[in-house]
Amino acid sequence: MRVAPVVELRSVSFAYPRGGDVLRDVDLVVLPGEFVAIAGPNGGGKTTLVRIVLGLLAPTSGSAWLFGEPAASVSQRRRLGYLPQRAQLRVEAPVTVREVVAAGRLPATRLLGRLRPEDRAKIDEAIERVGLAEQADAELRRLSGGQQQRALIAKALAGEPSLLALDEPTTGVDVESQEALAELLAHLNEELGVTILYVSHEFGAVERHVERIVLVRGGIVFDGPPGELPGVWHDPSHTHV
Ligand SMILES: Nc1ncnc2c1ncn2[C@@H]1O[C@H](COP(=O)(O)OP(=O)(O)OP(=O)(O)O)[C@@H](O)[C@H]1O
Ligand SMILES: [Mg+2]
Repeated sequence: MRVAPVVELRSVSFAYPRGGDVLRDVDLVVLPGEFVAIAGPNGGGKTTLVRIVLGLLAPTSGSAWLFGEPAASVSQRRRLGYLPQRAQLRVEAPVTVREVVAAGRLPATRLLGRLRPEDRAKIDEAIERVGLAEQADAELRRLSGGQQQRALIAKALAGEPSLLALDEPTTGVDVESQEALAELLAHLNEELGVTILYVSHEFGAVERHVERIVLVRGGIVFDGPPGELPGVWHDPSHTHV
């Protein structure tokens, strides 16, 4: 039996208005339960690719499908968890960690904005998983940059997504917390079957959990197990365009 893909891109090309092609002829199929690392140089098109996958950008040509529906109009948005790259927090507002994480739970609540006890439990669980239990009621603007990033990771987890896309989640996060994040993602992937797209330059602690690496440089230039990555891509001179 054919397993329905979570993500399916067919012959996708993309250009920003007035720009040249950022991605050319991308085919990508991600099945439920895969843990995929997305790597490549700055400007290679990783963030663009993820935003197309999530239906936030429409391909210039080709087609993008998510949970078997056109990505742009997917009816199951609540199944998505997304941590944008360098997520902008309006940290001047006096919101607490718990309030930020609760906002990530809203798409999963059945009554608009009404948190049930189980929603509150999931919010607390997400906060605990990123190690911020003690700061749960602290104002986000009073936390360090790395703690703020961890709060945003908890926000992405709070809705119990079946597809989790994290764009450079460990920027500014210390090594210990990176390892905790890697363990958390492995747990979500292996125990709960969450499909994960993990964009990074540095895989560090997640490397041992990743079975597939997609290298993006104006298109997909490699897609396979990390062990089969051609040696040339390990060369630091190729990390820049
Ligand atoms: N909003 C935008 N408008 C116009 N061009 C853009 C926009 N966003 C990105 N680009 C261009 O598209 C290309 C790919 O950018 P993208 O952000 O997808 O790369 P990336 O692989 O995520 O890079 P990084 O590793 O720096 O995050 C770059 O040349 C960039 O300048
Ligand atoms: Mg990027």
